[in-house]
Amino acid sequence: MSGHIPVPERVKFDSENLIQSMDDWQRIHAHSIAEPDDFWLNITRKSIVWDIEPSIGLEGGFDTIEQESFKWFSDGRLNATVSCVDQHLKNRPDKVAILWEGDEPGVVRRITYRQLHAQVCRFSNALQSRGVTSGDRVIIYMGMVPEAAIAMLACARIGAIHSVVFGGFSAESVADRIIDSGSKVVITMDEGKRAGRTIPLKKTTDEAIAIAGGIDTVIVYQHTANPVEWNDERDLWWHEIIENESGEHEAVIVEAEHPLFILYTSGSTGKPKGQVHSHGGYITYTAFTHRTVFDLREDDVFACVADVGWITGHSYIVYGPLANGATTFMFESTPLYPDAGRYWDMVERHGFTIFYTAPTAIRALAAKGDDYVHKYDRSSLRVLGTVGEPINPEAWEWYHRVVGEEKCTIVDTWWQTETGGICISPIAPATPVIGGSATLPLPGIQPELYNAEGELLKGKAEGLLCLSQSWPGQTRTIYGDHDRYLQTYFSTIKNRYFTGDGCRRDEHGYYWITGRVDDVINVSGHRMGTAEFEAILVESEMIAEAGVVGFPHDIKGQGVRAFLVLAKEVSDEESLYLSLNQLCRNRIGAHAKIDRFCIIPALPKTRSGKVMRRILRKVAEGEPEKMGDISTLADPDVVEAIIDSNCHYV
Ligand code: WT7
Repeated sequence: MSGHIPVPERVKFDSENLIQSMDDWQRIHAHSIAEPDDFWLNITRKSIVWDIEPSIGLEGGFDTIEQESFKWFSDGRLNATVSCVDQHLKNRPDKVAILWEGDEPGVVRRITYRQLHAQVCRFSNALQSRGVTSGDRVIIYMGMVPEAAIAMLACARIGAIHSVVFGGFSAESVADRIIDSGSKVVITMDEGKRAGRTIPLKKTTDEAIAIAGGIDTVIVYQHTANPVEWNDERDLWWHEIIENESGEHEAVIVEAEHPLFILYTSGSTGKPKGQVHSHGGYITYTAFTHRTVFDLREDDVFACVADVGWITGHSYIVYGPLANGATTFMFESTPLYPDAGRYWDMVERHGFTIFYTAPTAIRALAAKGDDYVHKYDRSSLRVLGTVGEPINPEAWEWYHRVVGEEKCTIVDTWWQTETGGICISPIAPATPVIGGSATLPLPGIQPELYNAEGELLKGKAEGLLCLSQSWPGQTRTIYGDHDRYLQTYFSTIKNRYFTGDGCRRDEHGYYWITGRVDDVINVSGHRMGTAEFEAILVESEMIAEAGVVGFPHDIKGQGVRAFLVLAKEVSDEESLYLSLNQLCRNRIGAHAKIDRFCIIPALPKTRSGKVMRRILRKVAEGEPEKMGDISTLADPDVVEAIIDSNCHYV
């Protein structure tokens, strides 16, 4: 295929992948779509340890979604952690399961599968001793230490449902998640570390509990050992409660559909939604996609440098790699600490073979120059992955040419919190790539494009990206609000899963994700809803109305721009903006920052009072000429004022 970069020899050599060529892809993909039950039952029986093997694949589906939810492997029983831990005691007990590097370069821990098993068992016993039981929800609010993964696995092992909250979230965000999930237990640590600074996780946990209430147990892992406030009635040290617990524990066997975890994610409206993943489907899908897309080999050192607080960390640091018996890397620090060579230094020292990161990090590193890369030996690398946002051609080119020296293949993996695992992506040894395209669907995934009128588009086209049939890794519901799940994902196009993304299909059938078409923004791979910002801004007595949109940003992918209608005259704009950003930080977290404030006389509204957000979006994107029809606006003059508005960068 012209324009496509073929798979380098280094990547194809010795592959045992199910899919090793485009012929394989054609055949296997077609079979998986025509006979999904047969395909997935085979995959799961071969790779996942079941207590009772399932005989049923998919039950229900998108066509009957309004009447009943779909299920996968519903007559099977298992516990996902048996595949992640116990399974490997026989074949690879002394293989490193988790390779951890701390904030300071060279501070390393290696945990073998045997040790991981013992530690997960100990902590499972400790949780059960404290009365935590199957179905209970547990909040995990920790930094990037191996104990975060151990806590996740221990919860899952006893049938409890973990909800990991990213360590950058504020007390109020933690409180919201405690309340929504109805958790009684929080697992946290004294402090996290990041780029030489400490993050007061225990302190923030205390503040969150003061807001939310309802928590009777807080388990604290000691990391920095700096002093923390202590509440004797509620707080327990991790190291103390595991002291007398056994290193053996029998996993609680649950139904395939038993919830494995809840992970909150932002949508275009309202509060973050608790996405519910299940034991059987999720573990099958993450394990399958992990070994297939990255072409996993037994001696690989797999490095995904995401955070366990996001879905990427759940699926491709913890569950997928461990289910496959891989050595998985956990990283506490940042790509720029102590300098822009950190990743490549670690490639050299640890011999990473597969490296998976976000375009925002690639852009930030490319901007620091090639010398930081050239300084280190990267010959161990075979596959490079990206995830989280569309990758621009310059960043892709740099990753391919400078980091990979054109000897690695690049897998641009498209997926979402809701999809559980990778859905559209090259398969390392098989797919010729084009920079910027996520290429082709994985087995079991059938993408469709629709226009705004809801008509299915064939061939070369651009439209709304939907997936037409269920796959095992999909979320089953929004915790406590199934109607919202149906409304959000299955009402835009009837009986289709609508992703929220726009997408183009080219003449080769390759998919190019163009970005969100709803009011979700993606800042440095952090997904946020513009409505979350707007709700916070209008709490200020200075602000009458606010419209928040994303705008293209060189490093972060998208920046945040707020259009403000003032309620009062402002004497000191600068301090108003600082205080508004402080409010966002307190309410959402450290990653929620508005980059650009613009004061406007009024929001663009229709005669019926609906805000035409498209106008704000197009102005922010620097394409006001593309805002389309504005004749339904109550006051068309406001558009000029918005285009000409004075903007302030902070
Ligand atoms: C949104 C999902 C999937 C783990 C991290 C993000 C965007 C994700 C790509 C990609 C273009 C991408 C989409 C998607 N996205 N991967 N390879 N190319 N866009 O998970 O926080 O649930 O966000 O991230 O817009 O809808 P998430």
